[in-house]
Amino acid sequence: MIFAANFKTHHTRSSTRAYLQTLQTRLQDASTDHRVYVFPPATALERYEGVVTLGAQNIYPVVRGAYTGEIGLDQVEEFGIKTVLIGHSERRSLLGETQKKVAEKFAFFQSQGFEIFYCIGEPLLVRESGDRAVIEHLRAQFEGIDTDYTRLIVAYEPIWAIGTGRSATVSEIATTHAALREMTDAPLLYGGSVKQENIAQITAIDGVDGVLVGSASLDPEGFYRMMCC
Ligand code: 13P
Repeated sequence: MIFAANFKTHHTRSSTRAYLQTLQTRLQDASTDHRVYVFPPATALERYEGVVTLGAQNIYPVVRGAYTGEIGLDQVEEFGIKTVLIGHSERRSLLGETQKKVAEKFAFFQSQGFEIFYCIGEPLLVRESGDRAVIEHLRAQFEGIDTDYTRLIVAYEPIWAIGTGRSATVSEIATTHAALREMTDAPLLYGGSVKQENIAQITAIDGVDGVLVGSASLDPEGFYRMMCC
């Protein structure tokens, strides 16, 4: 299973260090064979060698240049970062990233051989319109994306389930992942209010290869407990 923690705008450089130390110790002691990723804020990225893979939440698709407020390839390669999140709904909706921009980022990081966690997900209105509408919405989020890319990991995160405490149901996840399986061979993660109370149910679903966790990943002990349920 893949367990990925998206810190969003939580944790600092020093608290991320402490977090990784705790998590690393737990994972080593348990000698788990899960693949574990942490996406801290950009200020907390650093060269890190351990059982956890560090990834960037966002990188501008450029080596370097005049992109005020952004970081490019140079800034992450300094730390050996080769994993990136692309297409998160918060970037699509709050930061105005269009499908065209998302696809441009994808192509750039694919050309750089990055491991790409590609996020897709529908708003509530679409979910309420039924499974067909959801699938069409998700299909459109693959526009311009090479779904055969070997270092692709897809994260299905319904927008209405993110940060709301209301996860998608087992049947919604199972149906959606089955449809996604027709579109790509990539590992399929579920994200959206994944927590200790529902992790066992979610990871038991056929077609779920792992989870992308926000709030419930912020405490390393809690995140670790999710892996050993
Ligand atoms: P929550 O787990 O806080 O709902 O966030 C999910 C998410 O957006 C992970 O990328």
